[in-house]
Amino acid sequence: MPSLNPNAPSHVKNAKLVAWVADMAALTQPDSIYWCDGSDEEYARLCQQLVDAGTFKKLNPAKRPNSFLACSDPSDVARVEDRTYICSEKKENAGPTNNWMAPAEMRATLQPLFAGCMKGRTLYVVPFSMGPLGSHISHVGIELTDSAYVAVSQKIMTRMGKAVYDVLGADGAFVPCMHTVGAPLAAGQLDVKWPCNSTKYIVHYPETREIWSYGSGYGGNALLGKKCFALRIASNMGRDQGWLAEHMLILGVTNPQGKKYHVAAAFPSACGKTNFSMLVPPAGFEGWKVTTIGDDIAWIKPHADGKMYAINPEAGYFGVAPGTNYHTNPNCMASLDKNVIFTNVALTDDGDVWWEGMEQDGGGLPAHLIDWQGKDWTPEIARATGAKAAHPNSRFTVAAINNPALDVHWDSTDGVAIDAFIFGGRRSTTVPLVTESRNWMEGVYMAATMGSETTAAAVGQMGVVRRDPFAMLPFCGYNMSDYFQHWLDMEHKLEALGHTLPKIFCVNWFRKNEAGKFVWPGYGDNMRVLKWMIDRLEGKAQGMETMFGIAPLFDELTWTGLAFSAEQFNTVTSIDKAAWTEELKLHAAHFEQLSYHLPQALIETKATWEQRLQA
Ligand code: GTP
Ligand code: SPV
Ligand code: MN
Repeated sequence: MPSLNPNAPSHVKNAKLVAWVADMAALTQPDSIYWCDGSDEEYARLCQQLVDAGTFKKLNPAKRPNSFLACSDPSDVARVEDRTYICSEKKENAGPTNNWMAPAEMRATLQPLFAGCMKGRTLYVVPFSMGPLGSHISHVGIELTDSAYVAVSQKIMTRMGKAVYDVLGADGAFVPCMHTVGAPLAAGQLDVKWPCNSTKYIVHYPETREIWSYGSGYGGNALLGKKCFALRIASNMGRDQGWLAEHMLILGVTNPQGKKYHVAAAFPSACGKTNFSMLVPPAGFEGWKVTTIGDDIAWIKPHADGKMYAINPEAGYFGVAPGTNYHTNPNCMASLDKNVIFTNVALTDDGDVWWEGMEQDGGGLPAHLIDWQGKDWTPEIARATGAKAAHPNSRFTVAAINNPALDVHWDSTDGVAIDAFIFGGRRSTTVPLVTESRNWMEGVYMAATMGSETTAAAVGQMGVVRRDPFAMLPFCGYNMSDYFQHWLDMEHKLEALGHTLPKIFCVNWFRKNEAGKFVWPGYGDNMRVLKWMIDRLEGKAQGMETMFGIAPLFDELTWTGLAFSAEQFNTVTSIDKAAWTEELKLHAAHFEQLSYHLPQALIETKATWEQRLQA
């Protein structure tokens, strides 16, 4: 295949990059190549181009300055886990939880799909850094995409632009991220508003650290710095280099005395990471402050001082819109007042956005909307048909710097030292509000066996419990059991350095009563649980030993400002022996699936839990 002259700008000195762009252009045959510089001027120009193409609708500048609404094709609304592949040389290195195909076979499959796939389109070269530019924890990626929507989203979601080429230099390494919507245009053919293809492939080659994404323009399928790079490829880098790439928010919590702690928490998709990372302490917690470092992904490195330092590799939030309002997440609502790209929410008659949950902010239901699919929506239609104005997985894309609760160290090249890890799924029964593991090993067990009821963040059946170890089921780029071992190894690595290990907690905000209603108020009130964790770190709360770790006594939580009875507390904390007997059977089935390389220590912990349950 002849290489094309990619006309790289003079500030691009990396020969490997220029050659790769030339090869990819020869393969995909775009009409033109555009090298993004990441400037505000460029962002404005590409947004205008998207408006002209009908992909973007510019929102009313009086209501939502410099903001846009994109509505996707109804077939392209979420990550496609069943089309996501880890193509390691050996199948067992992808493990039983990932789709696998031999790299050669996958390359042969993708070759004809990518050949000519950008005809009639522009190839955008998008340089980005995951993590603060120049941090020793950061890594560079280059995304080639035929979607201007992806290019502008990457400007918000990552450190994107010219400065990345300085970091890269003449021979720096980058992760090549190849993306196409898979919709070439014949000469004279009119484009659609949201080009995509019914065939989709989200492919990772862990050994060569490459990403190839075909057919989708949405979210984690297309913004390749996020799940594809920062989790699936980075988890491989972390395993090889001794660090962790996790599906975790990172927050700072400062007590009234000014002492600050850092917590990283893993909850599955659409289970409350963005919410928790922006938590506003309720009345009664005067002097407490929660600040956001990250809302979705953490890269965590052990340091010579024995502590684990975490950075947020991202620079923006791609967050779930429905359910977000001034009661549940005021900081998030404040973040969304300008410079936002909304995707698949509803449009109001005065050119603003709306989604389910906003009615709780005092306005009630709007009399009329255009729903995410462009249809008329009224409360009557919604009542009659159940139609949602916004897609359940509709999202906003906004820069971290819009967040009023942004932590001062969010962009620090050193990262922040983690004091505690939290793991939590969405469970209407069985799992109590909060427990603390007795040791690292037990914490790893709790995380490894975590289950969660599925949400709209992935295509598939909703509301069924699936095991989602470490909230990493769709994101671990190698064999899950080897990943457990990697976590277990951290204990000895850190102990050898002589520092106290972070504590590990397990939470569940989602227990329901017999009427099917959430019992725990959640959101800002999660501060009550967070404070108990801090008390545990400081040795101020004794807790009580249960079968599954240390749990708070009713009186150990601060109840100021909330009417929550001991009986209600019991509903969210009780341990039902029969339910746990069933639960442990599910752990057994889970371990059976993961039996290849499953650490013996986990099997032993399970046996200990079973004995406790029987005692
Ligand atoms: P991803 O971006 O998909 O990784 O999701 P996330 O983990 O950041 O979830 P997010 O914070 O966006 O919350 C998703 C949904 O859970 C929203 O509809 C929230 O309203 C709801 N939610 C968040 N926190 C709580 C809570 O404490 N209690 C209850 N009941 N719901 C919550
Ligand atoms: C998730 O599903 O966990 C997300 C959204 O954060 S996406 O970027 O689409 O993966
Ligand atoms: Mn996520």
